[in-house]
Amino acid sequence: MSNEPNGKLTIRIVAMPADTNPSGDIFGGWVLSQMDIAGGVAAVQISKSRVVTVAVNAMTFIAPVKVGDVLCVYTKIIKIGTTSVTVAIEAWARRDRMSIREKVTEGHFTYVALDDKGKKCAVDR
Ligand SMILES: CC(C)(COP(=O)(O)OP(=O)(O)OC[C@H]1O[C@@H](n2cnc3c(N)ncnc32)[C@H](O)[C@@H]1OP(=O)(O)O)[C@@H](O)C(=O)NCCC(=O)NCCS
Repeated sequence: MSNEPNGKLTIRIVAMPADTNPSGDIFGGWVLSQMDIAGGVAAVQISKSRVVTVAVNAMTFIAPVKVGDVLCVYTKIIKIGTTSVTVAIEAWARRDRMSIREKVTEGHFTYVALDDKGKKCAVDR
């Protein structure tokens, strides 16, 4: 597996104790949520409109995230459709005071552009 992230660093956030499951690992849902936020930022930048998540595809959890890890989320636009934007998203954990970097998740998130009334609209190219 490549040791270099694909895409642009879009958000970084520290995994906190409140985000753990009863085993002490970080919830998959928390990680997915951070990926959704990052993908939304990338989709808004491209569409220049508000967006909503329509699909999460090819989502893989590769390694656990631990309290204190810095979650770094990378985004890359892979498809611009009529009303949708698909973003390839990778999350990497930086551990041990940033000395280790490991890919923890990857997936493809699709967003639909909405107008001010909340109706789907063409992506502004
Ligand atoms: C997003 C939403 C407005 C789309 O409305 P719709 O009339 O069903 O839209 P369509 O079927 O025409 O699809 C719109 C676009 O999304 C794409 N799309 C729809 N379902 C998809 C899926 N499962 N995977 C990938 N792309 C998908 C379509 O290909 C289309 O892209 P294009 O215009 O670039 O060709 C509507 O489904 C919705 O409001 N969903 C809820 C979204 C939401 O609340 N998300 C947060 C979850 S808490």
